[in-house]
Parts: sequence; structure tokens; C-alpha cells
Amino acid sequence: MTAQPAVAWIGDAATGNLKLIDQTVLPVEYRELNLTQVETVWEAIKSLRVRGAPAIGVAAAYGVVVGTQSAVRGTSSEFVARLNHVLDYLATSRPTAVNLFWALDRMRRTATAAAELSPIDLLNRLLEEACAIEQEDREMCAAIGRHGLPLLRDCSGVLTHCNTGGLATAGDGTALAVIFAAARLNPSLQVYADETRPLLQGARLTAWELMQRQVPVKLICDSMAGWVMKEQRVQAVIVGADRIAANGDSANKIGTYSLSVLAKAHNIPFYVAAPSSTFDLTIDNGDQIPIEQRASSEITNAFGRQTAPEGCDTYNPAFDVAPAGNITALITEKGVIQPVTKSQIAAVLNS
Ligand code: MRU
Repeated sequence: MTAQPAVAWIGDAATGNLKLIDQTVLPVEYRELNLTQVETVWEAIKSLRVRGAPAIGVAAAYGVVVGTQSAVRGTSSEFVARLNHVLDYLATSRPTAVNLFWALDRMRRTATAAAELSPIDLLNRLLEEACAIEQEDREMCAAIGRHGLPLLRDCSGVLTHCNTGGLATAGDGTALAVIFAAARLNPSLQVYADETRPLLQGARLTAWELMQRQVPVKLICDSMAGWVMKEQRVQAVIVGADRIAANGDSANKIGTYSLSVLAKAHNIPFYVAAPSSTFDLTIDNGDQIPIEQRASSEITNAFGRQTAPEGCDTYNPAFDVAPAGNITALITEKGVIQPVTKSQIAAVLNS
């Protein structure tokens, strides 16, 4: 976890609010946001003020509480109508990270199971469930760190992509939790962090988190990863995921597919660390994962200024899919899944 949690609830169910670290202004500025309207929660998810699959799920769960507070003075059916509207609305914020839909589904099922409660009691129950989602995510991060540690034990260098740490989860992170655990054992472990174009989560957030925790980090441009492998600077690549299909195909930040191909070409293990809430066992393979397309301005106006000719056309997929065949192991809170096959995934997740 960062010094302050990336996502938290402040106060009681009826009058409290969602508190976030605004990740769009890091590392230059540290700003906290108190969100009291579901529209601002939606905007915070859409614009990546809160981001990273598990953190999006936690924020959405609290967003449900924020969005239904105004309905507690109405009838039960008015409360349920508002709840359904809020659930559907939050589901439109981002398409790829399945944790969003997993958390909203949990909130929907909680409300259905407690349908006999009065609106205020139901609101309290919804907050309890959102807090449970946050707490469970924290515990899953710790378990992922423990299970992944042996895989990095003998590494002197490791490469990671995007941000998968305390900012992306309720705890220490997924891939970064494993890195933090390995760095506690081997303080000279050298992390290579891809800057992660176009929104620079690696440069702005991962480098910041690693430096805060005194873990040696070298920031590299995304295009340098292959050369870093060729020079034998890293003995493993470890990334997070936004959605993992039943066969192990794993969607993650754009650039992950290329890293998986490069790792295979250099005979370097490629690990994906994610909690069970990131698995979508309703889809057979990665072809069925919706890939978020984002605004062209993220590419044409990099680094706070225009960086492409006026009117230049772009293609800006925010995620890609690393095929299961390129993944050495999946690291979950339930254990390490290796080999990455449909049956092994089912066996470990059901254990
Ligand atoms: O667009 P983002 O910043 O939300 O993308 C985040 C990632 O791709 C992370 O690697 C993933 O969500 C795992 S976070 C533990």
C-alpha cells in the first residue's frame, strides 16, 4: 500500500464519501479527492484518476454507495430502481478490467439477497460489502506477494510494465507485491520499469512507488525492453492483468503482448500476477476480451504539448492480450498456476 490508500471510504454509509488519490497528477503533485456524486466517481474511473483493475473494482463498489445515498429517504422500490441505474451507469465507465463488473455484480447480488431490508439498512449493507471487497483485495495482494516470491528469488533484475502496485489495488499490488517481497529479501534487486506510453503509468506511478519504498528502479522507454533482455539485465518479466480468460490469455496494458513475445524469444520467464477477481471464466479465450479504445489526444498530445501534426489520425488501443502460450505462470492469491492451461486454472481457482 502507498502511505495513504489509493481508494478509501470516509465516514458512515448515509453521509460518507469515496476518497481517492488523483493519479493523473502524480508524481508532480499529490492530490486527494473526496467524491460525493456517482457522476464524479464515473469520471474518475474513465479518466484514470483511479486506475488499475482491482482499484477500479473497489472504487466502483464505493461508487454504488455514493450513488444510492440520495435514495434512502424514498420507498424500497425507489431505492432499488436507483441502485439498478447506478450499477448500469458505473458499468459503462471502462470496458476491459473485469474487476469492475465483478465488483458491481457482487454489489447487485448483495442487494438482491437483502431485499427485505429498509433503504437505510440496505445502504449500510452495501457499504459493508464494498468494505469487504476492499479488505479482501488487500489480503489477495499479500498472498500474491507470498506465492510469487519464490519465482523471483534468484533474479538480480526484473522488468515490469504499467503500474500494478499500491495505487492499482487496495493493498501492496499484484506484480509489484511480488517485486516488493523479492526486494525485501534481496535489496539490490534491480527493477526495470517500462514508462508505458501513452499515459506513462510506469514512469509516473511505478517509478514513484518503487522509489518511495527504496527499491532500485531504472526507468526505460517501452522500446528498450527487448534490448534490456538481450543484454541479460533481467531474468524475469512480471506484469499484472485486467482480464484473464478461462484458457489463460491475459489482457493487460498495451505493450504487454510485445513483452510476452520478446520474453519468449529471449527465453526469459514471463509471469502474470492477478487476483481471482481478474479471471473471467465465462470467456474461453482472449479474443472475447473487449479492448478499450481511447482518445487520439493521448497520442498526439504527449508530455503536455502537441507532439503530432495537426489532424494526424491515430489508433489507440489501451490494452492487448498476452497469449497463454507465452505465459510461464499465473500468480494468484490461491497459488501459482503452471502450466497455464484451462484445467490447471480451474484446479487452482477452485482449490
Ligand atoms: O489503464 P490502466 O492504468 O487502468 O491499466 C492498468 C493495467 O493495465 C494494470 O497492469 C492492471 O490493471 C493490473 S493492476 C494490479
